[in-house]
Amino acid sequence: MLILSFLFLLLSHNHQSVLSCNHLDHTSLLSFYNHISPTLNYSSTDCCQWEGISCTTHHRRVTHLYLPGRALSGSITPVLGNLSFLTHLNLSNNHLSGPIPPTLFHDLNRLQTLDLSSNHFIGSIDLLFLKNLITFNVSNNIFTGSIPLSICKGYPFLEILDFSMNQFSGQIFHGICECHQLKVFRAGFNALSGWLPQDFHSLTTLKEISLPNNHFSGPINNSIVLLHNLTILELHVNELSGLLPPDIGLLSNLEQLQLHTNTLNGTIPLSLMNCSNLKTLLLRNNFFGGEISTLDFSKLQRLQAIDFGNNSFMGNIPDTLCSCRSLTAVRLAYNKLTGEIPPCMASLTSLAHLSLSNNYLSNVSRALKILKNCHHLAALFLSRCFHDEMMPDGLIEFQNLQILALGGCGLKGEIPNWIAKLRKLKVLNLSYNKISGPIPTWLGDMPSLFSVNLTQNFLSGEIPAQIGGMQGLIGGDNTNTTSSSDLSHLALPFLFDSSQYNRLFNLHRALKLGHNRLSGNIPEEIGRLKLLQMLDLSNNNFNGSIPDKLSNLVNLEKLDMSGNHLSGQIPEVLLGLHFLSNLNVADNDLEGEIPRGGQFDTFPENSFEGNPKLCGELIKRRCSQPQVEMRRRIPAEEEEGDDSWDEYIIPLVMGYFVGLFAVISWFLVL
Ligand SMILES: *[C@@H]1O[C@H](CO)[C@@H](O)[C@H](O)[C@H]1NC(C)=O
Ligand SMILES: *[C@@H]1O[C@H](CO)[C@@H](O)[C@H](O)[C@H]1NC(C)=O
Ligand SMILES: *[C@@H]1O[C@H](CO)[C@@H](O)[C@H](O)[C@H]1NC(C)=O
Ligand SMILES: *[C@@H]1O[C@H](CO)[C@@H](O)[C@H](O)[C@H]1NC(C)=O
Ligand SMILES: *[C@@H]1O[C@H](CO)[C@@H](O)[C@H](O)[C@H]1NC(C)=O
Ligand SMILES: *[C@@H]1O[C@H](CO)[C@@H](O)[C@H](O)[C@H]1NC(C)=O
Ligand SMILES: *[C@@H]1O[C@H](CO)[C@@H](O)[C@H](O)[C@H]1NC(C)=O
Ligand SMILES: *[C@@H]1O[C@H](CO)[C@@H](O)[C@H](O)[C@H]1NC(C)=O
Ligand SMILES: *[C@@H]1O[C@H](CO)[C@@H](O)[C@H](O)[C@H]1NC(C)=O
Ligand SMILES: *[C@@H]1O[C@H](CO)[C@@H](O)[C@H](O)[C@H]1NC(C)=O
Ligand SMILES: *[C@@H]1O[C@H](CO)[C@@H](O)[C@H](O)[C@H]1NC(C)=O
Ligand SMILES: *[C@@H]1O[C@H](CO)[C@@H](O)[C@H](O)[C@H]1NC(C)=O
Repeated sequence: MLILSFLFLLLSHNHQSVLSCNHLDHTSLLSFYNHISPTLNYSSTDCCQWEGISCTTHHRRVTHLYLPGRALSGSITPVLGNLSFLTHLNLSNNHLSGPIPPTLFHDLNRLQTLDLSSNHFIGSIDLLFLKNLITFNVSNNIFTGSIPLSICKGYPFLEILDFSMNQFSGQIFHGICECHQLKVFRAGFNALSGWLPQDFHSLTTLKEISLPNNHFSGPINNSIVLLHNLTILELHVNELSGLLPPDIGLLSNLEQLQLHTNTLNGTIPLSLMNCSNLKTLLLRNNFFGGEISTLDFSKLQRLQAIDFGNNSFMGNIPDTLCSCRSLTAVRLAYNKLTGEIPPCMASLTSLAHLSLSNNYLSNVSRALKILKNCHHLAALFLSRCFHDEMMPDGLIEFQNLQILALGGCGLKGEIPNWIAKLRKLKVLNLSYNKISGPIPTWLGDMPSLFSVNLTQNFLSGEIPAQIGGMQGLIGGDNTNTTSSSDLSHLALPFLFDSSQYNRLFNLHRALKLGHNRLSGNIPEEIGRLKLLQMLDLSNNNFNGSIPDKLSNLVNLEKLDMSGNHLSGQIPEVLLGLHFLSNLNVADNDLEGEIPRGGQFDTFPENSFEGNPKLCGELIKRRCSQPQVEMRRRIPAEEEEGDDSWDEYIIPLVMGYFVGLFAVISWFLVL
């Protein structure tokens, strides 16, 4: 009886395992699992029970292999092609590598979903025979070669194609137009080139075309306006030229139009203003021109971000822009706009980012009085925008302003006190103006400020000791420079110090006071600003010595004190500034030996020139006896000291010959 029941158990177990999952699928999956790590759980004899696997109910054939985001590494074995009932394969977001075995593209002809995105797969994708495919995503891998010519031939169901973020090259073939169900086509961030398809009429199902950051050239054919369902058109950062399709207004579902950084030209077709669903309109870095005031923005009620920067638009900012009440970011910088900011801009209460730099606007006082009503304004760029006006004063309060850039406007007057009320201000640029008077003491009370540029003005007096209180540069408990602020990621990029930034916290923590008329000693309180990365005090009238306390600025990368009247020695403690890659103390009255070691060994000679009393190996000027004697006492350095004699002797000998030659010439002239 016992034996019988045991036999029965054995048999039933066997029977179950035969029924449980198809034998061929079982071996194929086992082989697949053996090629990847970490080891997945295949303890069950029924492979349909393994994690990520689903099977058909009748024949227990594997239909789904879903293992996204499991940190899997290894490669795909060709045996996987034996899972002939597979409809869904999702291995996205792992560390899988190697080429895709061709069997996968040939034999899995029931496959509907293939998602291999975000892995390290290499190789090319040649011919596809997956005629049931609906979704194909190979984005974010290292695939090369061309986008498969066959991709749309006889694939009636294909809806989603994503080739983006690989190294695909060559052209997109006209064959793409045979994907009659295609909704999403992405192939951005590759090395594709050639013209875009010129005939879009058969692709009317398309909702999204995203081909940015390639080398596409040639025109955007007007037939693109036939894609009535298009909501996203991203062709930015390519080499496209010519005009915008004149009938672009027919794309009534368009929400996102990103054509920035191409070589498009001509005027903006009036019909574009009929695309009333537009939320994002980015046309910066092209050659568009014409009167911006001819554009009627009043139908674009959903517009959130507009960037017309770096084109050749002329004329006044149109009043109709104010009717776009959803606007959060407006960038019209680097154009030829004239006139004043329209008063109606006060009604843009969602506006957080406004950039009008590099235009020819007038009346900055009026502009700020209008804009202070935009309560959400966090970033205001008005550099090189106004010319030779008075610095606005009076009661100008911006509750949320974090960046204020008013550089290069030739503004006259003093640093206005209303800036002290901008309690969230992090970045202040008033450089290249004609601002006179002192540096206000309240600067030290600003709770968040971490980047100040007052370069090239007429500021005078001493640097107030209070400057050592700037919390944004101290990093104490009271610091309020949380990167979680609404500006941690800006809607639009901005230019600063001629670099482009997308994030505020990438900006250097800097205090730039160069090219002014500041005098007195450098206050040692500056040494409290531990987070400082750049300190520029150059070309002022500072005297006294370099404070030892500067050695507390352990994050300092750039220190410029050139062109002053500083005297005394360069403090040896500055050797502790391990990140200092750029030091300039030229044209002062410094003396004694230049410290040796640390970063000081990397500074060029001209960092120290124009200080006749400085000496040391770095500038090939021999120090007087006492310093040499002092060094002699350190045995380790003695040999180096001996070597360095060559460096001194050669110029001396040369100097002798030059002198001799001068004397001879003088005799000859006589
Ligand atoms: C492996 O999977 C089986 C079910 O298939 C489960 O009973 C077992 O607990 C799992 N083991 C581990 C270590 O997760
Ligand atoms: C399984 O796949 C391998 C490799 O592709 C192939 O050689 C073999 O013939 C396949 N076996 C079956 C039963 O289809
Ligand atoms: C693959 O799985 C990931 C993670 O669950 C999911 O986000 C993605 O949509 C899946 N891919 C497809 C094509 O369904
Ligand atoms: C393709 O996969 C990537 C990464 O998993 C994902 O971000 C992207 O949205 C997917 N593409 C489509 C069209 O769904
Ligand atoms: C658009 O493409 C069609 C061919 O499909 C061509 O006849 C036409 O000239 C093209 N238009 C432009 C502006 O290039
Ligand atoms: C456009 O989209 C609508 C709504 O999603 C849909 O009913 C229609 O079939 C689509 N048109 C085409 C040509 O795909
Ligand atoms: C636009 O650029 C093309 C060359 O790409 C040039 O032939 C054409 O004259 C330009 N049109 C305008 C309006 O500037
Ligand atoms: C904008 O749309 C309206 C209504 O559909 C139409 O009458 C007008 O001609 C269009 N304007 C342009 C410039 O295409
Ligand atoms: C303007 O666009 C041109 C061409 O794309 C680019 O070279 C230049 O750097 C841009 N200038 C600014 C200030 O963005
Ligand atoms: C600027 O506008 C104000 C009105 O807000 C006016 O009083 C002032 O004269 C204008 N200033 C200049 C320089 O045009
Ligand atoms: C810090 O800044 C955030 C947002 O900018 C603000 O909500 C918060 O009240 C500030 N905290 C202090 C202590 O000022
Ligand atoms: C700030 O000052 C530097 C001089 O150190 C100048 O070159 C730079 O253009 C200024 N930055 C801005 C944003 O104007």
